[in-house]
Amino acid sequence: MKNILVTGGAGFIGSNFLNYILTKRDDVNIVNLDKLTYAGNLENLSSIEKKKNYTFVKGDITNRELLDYIFTKYSIKHVINFAAESHVDRSILGSEVFTVSNVLGTNVLLEAAKNHQVERFVQISTDEVYGSLGPTGLFTENTPLSPNSPYSASKTAADMLAMAFNHTYGLPVVITRCSNNYGPYQFPEKLIPLMIINAMHDKKLPVYGDGLNVRDWIHVTDHNRAAELVWENGKVGEVYNIGASQEMTNIEIIKLIIKALGKTEALIEYVKDRPGHDKRYAIDSTKIERELGWKPEHKFEEAIQSTIEWYLNNKPWWGRIISGEYQDYYKKQYLS
Ligand code: NAD
Ligand code: DAU
Repeated sequence: MKNILVTGGAGFIGSNFLNYILTKRDDVNIVNLDKLTYAGNLENLSSIEKKKNYTFVKGDITNRELLDYIFTKYSIKHVINFAAESHVDRSILGSEVFTVSNVLGTNVLLEAAKNHQVERFVQISTDEVYGSLGPTGLFTENTPLSPNSPYSASKTAADMLAMAFNHTYGLPVVITRCSNNYGPYQFPEKLIPLMIINAMHDKKLPVYGDGLNVRDWIHVTDHNRAAELVWENGKVGEVYNIGASQEMTNIEIIKLIIKALGKTEALIEYVKDRPGHDKRYAIDSTKIERELGWKPEHKFEEAIQSTIEWYLNNKPWWGRIISGEYQDYYKKQYLS
């Protein structure tokens, strides 16, 4: 059995990872440590929560004593760190919590992993650490780090700390840098679920700037299959980019959602641009494909339709979310 600490497992990608891995394999004991911020939701885990090889602990990755307790009690030898504040717009509204959770939190987790001699530490990072591309070219693992938002700066700092723990103490760190994920359980502050839910309610669809910014979309399950491979077979001290070569402008995605839901393009509203808005992300995944044999399985045209259907069929899930703190955030971000 492999004893794994997964952090942030109640969020979008972490919960999809747990649902995927605990359904697929029984050679893992997993402790999920999650603070349950506004983005953490135990409902995402209802299908696996009763499994004997799964334990949930509510807590913060900045809590040294709690980490010591968990590493000892559960003989943790593997860490997969998904926990983070993840939304760029929120980092622009207020950056400090991003430094605390993403930088200090990763630092505290790395210390605990070092003290407890873990065999593998996977840092789940992002392509945003590379900054922004012009109209051509792709991010490779050798692209210089050049983050632009408080969110991406905090993720870059976490990556640097993780690499420093590898160089200095020999901690067996591997880093993944993935592009924009979509799929079930994504919090409706992010582009795709926000547009689906607003369109369903015939609410305005707020497009930042000219709508021509480009993101490289990957289904969350493809990201998680890659994270599993990197955890098991990735080379210590290495970075692996993950992407599905599915570049789209924001306005293309919004129009696709409008069409799928049978709504009108009159809902589109061009609004003030995101400050420091990165123009284009695009990932070169050659390394993980060549070295670990990974390939994306989901095609955007099909998987976006099943994602839209998931939101249509799971109204109670997002209905509870948008009736809470979300309203305050929405007002601050879009209506002030
Ligand atoms: P999310 O915001 O949906 O979930 C984050 C989870 O982390 C939540 O459950 C939250 O409660 C938890 N958390 C936050 N701070 C914590 C703390 N201090 N201690 C313990 N738990 C804490 O985020 P996501 O979209 O699932 O992203 C997960 C990871 O993947 C992040 O590290 C993010 O940077 C990275 N990533 C995301 C994307 C994407 O498109 N969403 C792409 C590439 C990488
Ligand atoms: O690239 C990986 C990153 O992708 C992850 O590291 C982040 O955690 C994740 O949030 C995501 O960041 P983005 O900023 O690219 O995602 P977001 O969904 O916020 O925005 C996608 C694009 O859509 C971006 O160009 C901004 C635009 N947008 C977004 C929202 C919420 C709009 O035009 N209007 C909106 O209301």
